[in-house]
Amino acid sequence: MHDDVEKVLFTPEQIAARVSELADDIERDYAGEEVLLVGILKGAFVLMADLARALFLAEGTVRPRFDFMAVSSYGSATRSSGVVRILKDLDGDIADRHVLLVEDILDSGLTLQYLVRNLRARKPASLAVLTMLSKPEPMKPDVEVYEGFHIPDVFVVGYGLDYAQRYRDLPYIGVLREEVYGRS
Ligand code: PRP
Repeated sequence: MHDDVEKVLFTPEQIAARVSELADDIERDYAGEEVLLVGILKGAFVLMADLARALFLAEGTVRPRFDFMAVSSYGSATRSSGVVRILKDLDGDIADRHVLLVEDILDSGLTLQYLVRNLRARKPASLAVLTMLSKPEPMKPDVEVYEGFHIPDVFVVGYGLDYAQRYRDLPYIGVLREEVYGRS
């Protein structure tokens, strides 16, 4: 385990099993459809890669397509402010397409609330959200949300999640030691 991690919340095996269940949920709900998975950078890049392959291995009828958006929220390092700026928009039009937003974490929910409003205005055929982690009682967007794991209000890193751009490469999801983010 990394020295800066206090405890592992989800092991690589637990994550893989849950991602495979989420892929099954998608296969069930979008059977026969083309679905555009929209990963929100940077945090979602690891989940997107795993989800892509889990969908393939599920051997279903969903035809996944992939795009990415990069957003930045102004505010402190550990909390998003809800003011979102689009740094990279989607490459293509989403009108009349089934869109599934893929996030690493739903914290305050402010980022997703903004993204749902923004993407809904582009008139997709449907819009839903898949998040690997949810904090307690986040502001839920008014769309269907597929949730990987519920976590307490702790500072988590790994599996795409960072602190100051570090730890995204950890293969597990862990709680960062308080001394680490208190330090800078
Ligand atoms: C994180 C995460 C979500 C957002 C969630 O992104 O990936 O997009 O914060 O927070 P909220 O629910 O309180 O709005 P961050 O801005 O840290 O960027 P990153 O994905 O590049 O790490």
